[in-house]
Amino acid sequence: MYSEKVIEHFKKPHNVGKIEDADGVGTVGNRACGDVMKLYIKVKDNKIVDIKFETMGCAAAIATSSIITDLAKGKTIEEAMKITKDNVVEELEGLPPVKVHCSLLAIDALHAAIKDFKDKKK
Ligand code: FES
Repeated sequence: MYSEKVIEHFKKPHNVGKIEDADGVGTVGNRACGDVMKLYIKVKDNKIVDIKFETMGCAAAIATSSIITDLAKGKTIEEAMKITKDNVVEELEGLPPVKVHCSLLAIDALHAAIKDFKDKKK
């Protein structure tokens, strides 16, 4: 049911953990299933220089969390905001249709962390 890429990222997710002195933190929950994701970003010169996540969720939620950290790392804030659900699904070589909503968790968490970063700067 899952692509090899999803299984690979589920078994060995990238950038798992917490950033103690994060510049932005986003916490989101999926109302449909109750899964929760927390994402931390460290920003320098408008670039995401470090990113980590803690996700309590299904295999697809873990895999999408992992892939979004890979996609966002090294990007500017503006570039990171342009990452879409389709980018995530494509990068994972597809997700089963019933699991596509799981990819939204990672996108929402990234957006929430960026919003938190911007709010803190004000
Ligand atoms: Fe909850 Fe996948 S079933 S995020």
